[in-house]
Amino acid sequence: MHQKIKKNESKPLIIKRILTKNQIKKILSIYNDLPVEINNKRQKIKKKKWITSYEPNLQAILLKKIKKKIGYFKLDNPKTKDGLGSFGLFQESQKPVNLHVDTGFNFKKILFKQFLLPLSSGGETVVFKNRFYGCSTTFSIDSRELKAKGYNKRSSEHLKIFKGKDFDKEKHKKYLKHENIENLKGLEIEMVYKWKIGEILIWDRTQLHCSSSNLKNQKIGFTALTCK
Ligand SMILES: [Fe+2]
Repeated sequence: MHQKIKKNESKPLIIKRILTKNQIKKILSIYNDLPVEINNKRQKIKKKKWITSYEPNLQAILLKKIKKKIGYFKLDNPKTKDGLGSFGLFQESQKPVNLHVDTGFNFKKILFKQFLLPLSSGGETVVFKNRFYGCSTTFSIDSRELKAKGYNKRSSEHLKIFKGKDFDKEKHKKYLKHENIENLKGLEIEMVYKWKIGEILIWDRTQLHCSSSNLKNQKIGFTALTCK
């Protein structure tokens, strides 16, 4: 099964000028209208799902432009808590998101790419070269985090898989102060993406990623998952 996923893996890709300022404005107004799906006070993150019946024409514009670059795919976003179809997830966070992977929970699926559409500036996303083929997991060595319940499984199994070198101290200081450096052992950064409104970042769902620690106030981004 991994072979089918690996066949479709590639380097992260940025599509510039994917949407106009007016289209971004429209997306932010949808965001305001949508109901809150999750409000996690501990992680200081608010999540809303883009219900597929909201502005389907904007969804079609995005899909067409992305498919032109990366070829055919299916969307693979979990339904809303009310059972409605979701185009993806809006995340408004005031705290950097920790190390994780968004691989889902269905091993029969051929995982493909995930997208990040920045809706504010000032955010940074760190994508690692390291890949994981298990379920959606938050990787941590913090006992409180390992006990926490959420959508993702909590685990420190990455340290067994990527065993090896200490993480680069300079890069830790520059981008990843919110992570314990011991939790990053064996990891290597593929890219640090500086959020820019109007662009979209596309990378493989098997790649570990997190926010950088350089977050001044808050950021809003839209993310979506795909499979083949
Ligand atoms: Fe993610």
